[in-house]
This record gives sequence, C-alpha cells and structure tokens, in this order.
Amino acid sequence: MMEKLLQLEKVSIDDGLGRALIKNASLTIFQGEFIGIVGESGSGKTLTVKSALDLLPDHLVITSGVRQLLGKELNGLSSKDKRRLIGAGIGFVPQNTVVFLHPMIKIKYQMIDAYLYHIDNDKKQALKKASDLLEKVGIKEPKRVLNAYPKQLSGGMQQRVNIAMALMTDPKLIVADEPTTALDTVVQRQVMELFNQLNQSEGVSILFISHDLKIVKQFCQRMYVMYQGEIVESGETHEIFTNPKHSYTQKLLSLIPTLTNLSMDKFG
Ligand SMILES: Nc1ncnc2c1ncn2[C@@H]1O[C@H](COP(=O)(O)OP(=O)(O)OP(=O)(O)O)[C@@H](O)[C@H]1O
Ligand SMILES: [Mg+2]
Repeated sequence: MMEKLLQLEKVSIDDGLGRALIKNASLTIFQGEFIGIVGESGSGKTLTVKSALDLLPDHLVITSGVRQLLGKELNGLSSKDKRRLIGAGIGFVPQNTVVFLHPMIKIKYQMIDAYLYHIDNDKKQALKKASDLLEKVGIKEPKRVLNAYPKQLSGGMQQRVNIAMALMTDPKLIVADEPTTALDTVVQRQVMELFNQLNQSEGVSILFISHDLKIVKQFCQRMYVMYQGEIVESGETHEIFTNPKHSYTQKLLSLIPTLTNLSMDKFG
C-alpha cells in the first residue's frame, strides 16, 4: 500500500465573516504521484493547498474537515510540531514569489535555513547543495545569485530560487502553486522536466497547481478541477481529458483548441 502523504477530507473554509471560500474539498496524494489542480482564477486552488500546509492567513477560518499530512492529523499538533513536520517533509513553491522571499536577507541564507535546521547543521554542505540546486533550475551563475538580495533578481530568477529552495530538504512532497507562470518557455520546460525527473527517478510526489492544461495533461497522472470553491471533478488525467463529466470541466477543455497535438506545442 502506497503511503498517503496528504489528505484533505471535506475541508471548508470561510473568510471570517461567514462567506464560504472553500466548500467540502477532499483531496489525496499518495507517494510517487504527480497531481494537478486546475480551475479559473479565484476558484480556490491556493487556499486549498495552503490549508493542507497550515499556511492560511490568520483571519480565514477552517469551519470543518480533516487535514492529514505525512500521516499526522494537523489539528492534533502544536504549531512547533506542525512547522517541523512541514519544514522537513514538504517543499512549497508559492504563487507569489515576491512576497515569499524576505527582502532584507541574502538568497543564500534564505536557501540554507531549512537545511541547517532540519537536515544537518553544516553550512558548507548546505551552500554546496544550494548552489547545485540553483544550477539544476537553470541558473548559470549560482554564486552571484546566492550573494544577491531578492530585489536584485528578476521575477523569473526569484521563482527559480523558490523552486530550488523547496528542494533543499529533499522533501517527499513538493507543492508548487503556479510555479512556472513567471518563467519563459525554456525555463518553464526545464523546471517541469526537473519535477518530472524527481518524480520518476526519486519517487517525489508533486502537487502542481496550474492554469496551463497542456502541462497538466503532459505531466499529471491524476487531476482535480476546482470551480467556485469546490472540487467539481477529479480522477485520472487521461480519463478527464477524454470524458469530462462536469460542465465546467467540459467548458475548460473546450477552450484549448490545440489539445490533440498538445505535446508538440510547448514541450515538443
Ligand atoms: N486572504 C484572503 N481573505 C479573504 N478572501 C480570500 C483570501 N485569499 C483568497 N480569498 C478568496 O478566496 C477565493 C479563492 O482564492 P484562491 O487564492 O484560493 O484562488 P485561486 O484558485 O488560487 O486563484 P488564482 O488562480 O488567481 O491564483 C477567492 O474568492 C479569493 O478572493
Ligand atoms: Mg492561486
């Protein structure tokens, strides 16, 4: 039986004023899976994954449901235990890069922090790993980037730093929220191939949020479709693309005219 890395069961979230933002979201990720979440802007993709990683803004309220991460029930853990569990086991690539990186701290210190804390308190090893990972995400001058402050880097560079940073602790699960949106096509492809390689050869699970159905179709084994705060459809990617059941999914798929020859388009 494959290990269940993440499970949400009927999680509902409201805005603190009684407006439901997420309604009964259920989602499961097993070890080794590459999973996609799609849906229009505002449909609840980010809040859903943030609830699983205990990263919701304070004023939002989880009104019901069960959240399990790496076999642990989140509600039963102290904040410290939650941070430790998530910090060591999950790599998170956030949607909003600029807010995520601390503006006043050099990239290298931000990158090695979790490694020193969770893996091994060896700064030299940590810096070597950071440099190697930056190269893996297509950064040609890792030294310069490591010594830079975030604002000295472009948005695309910052996003690559985030991706590399998420890999520092060799997580079992990478949660990536629109990780390639700020990147040009070549780097986008590089990043997707890196995720794919981690998934295929090291069995790392990937939870991947995207607007890009072509990428989801190419890489994700299963997918979830969100619409107005609900997961309206889920299943094997191939099955959903050939036989979408929910009317929103049907509409979404009909908006991609070149679907049939998609693998040749961006990644061919
Ligand atoms: N901090 C917040 N406070 C109040 N409402 C919020 C907050 N964050 C998100 N929402 C609302 O919750 C809903 C879901 O937002 P969410 O960010 O999860 O959507 P999304 O699917 O990730 O969209 P996008 O594709 O644009 O990133 C939206 O209606 C949004 O306005
Ligand atoms: Mg989002």
